[in-house]
Amino acid sequence: MPVKKILVVGAGNMGAGIAQLCGQQGFDVVISDISLDFSKAALARMEAGLQKRVEQGKLTEEQKNSVLSRISAAGDLSPVAECDFVIESALEDLAIKRKIFAELDRLAPPGMIFATNTTSLSISALAEATGRPDKVVQMHFFNPPTIMKLVEIMPGRQTSAETLSAAEELAKQLGKDPVVCGNEAPAGIVSRVLGQLLNEATWLVASGVATPEDVDKAMKLGANHPMGPFQLLDLIGLDVHRAKMQTLASVLDDPRYKYPDLIDTMIEQGRLGKKVGKGFYSY
Ligand SMILES: NC(=O)c1ccc[n+]([C@@H]2O[C@H](COP(=O)([O-])OP(=O)(O)OC[C@H]3O[C@@H](n4cnc5c(N)ncnc54)[C@H](O)[C@@H]3O)[C@@H](O)[C@H]2O)c1
Repeated sequence: MPVKKILVVGAGNMGAGIAQLCGQQGFDVVISDISLDFSKAALARMEAGLQKRVEQGKLTEEQKNSVLSRISAAGDLSPVAECDFVIESALEDLAIKRKIFAELDRLAPPGMIFATNTTSLSISALAEATGRPDKVVQMHFFNPPTIMKLVEIMPGRQTSAETLSAAEELAKQLGKDPVVCGNEAPAGIVSRVLGQLLNEATWLVASGVATPEDVDKAMKLGANHPMGPFQLLDLIGLDVHRAKMQTLASVLDDPRYKYPDLIDTMIEQGRLGKKVGKGFYSY
């Protein structure tokens, strides 16, 4: 069945971006949060962002209105009954997400696919909250979802091949270039590879082998990276990186995500990165 209308659960940073993306790509969308006010606030943020693009000459007034006309706000999950696909992007909390999935399962037609944008929770643990574990799949978008081309698609233990294909097809219809993983992979590809790269760069500095400037120069000139690891770490935020490494170490039970004490020290000193004007570099 072709997907026409999508329910996006969670109207935070990612949910709002995903809902806007769906609207921009011609889908009807309902965005739902724990209160209608939260969903309406997300709609207002979308409208402000689109208005800015109109003022910059990147979008016409008609295009803006057309996108907004396709997106509506809700304060509960009941609109799932009139949708064809769910993308859940609520708070990263297993108990909350399991509750959402159980309720969606109760309200939605039997064949409907539920995708989750979880960063690192077990997709199987979410799927088991439903009576349709074969129809639950991870679709991991990147921030901001309207801009970033990648969607990582990951199965749970029981996800069917049809569900994976449907998620891949939808990602393409959303203008993305997806990667489909073969096995359950809670944190996907990018977080794992990038996490270790950033950790290793920090170990080099912490052990006195090189300065951040030297590491950045080496990776740009020697590996053709467009940005050095410390420029990237400052952009991501040291606190965000640390939280991610702690989650990966515990979810994957893997000591390779251990980061040097230098990260803790810099966070204690308030050197969180570009957002506060100082990290490995000053801004
Ligand atoms: N921020 C990122 O860069 C990023 C990237 C990829 C994936 N993710 C994942 O996307 C999800 C959302 O992240 P975010 O950054 O948008 O978080 P956020 O804190 O901005 O938004 C979470 C939203 O979920 C809502 N919520 C909480 N309980 C709910 C419920 N029971 N029903 C409906 N909505 C509920 C909250 O009110 C809030 O609006 C998380 O699973 C996160 O791991 C985040």
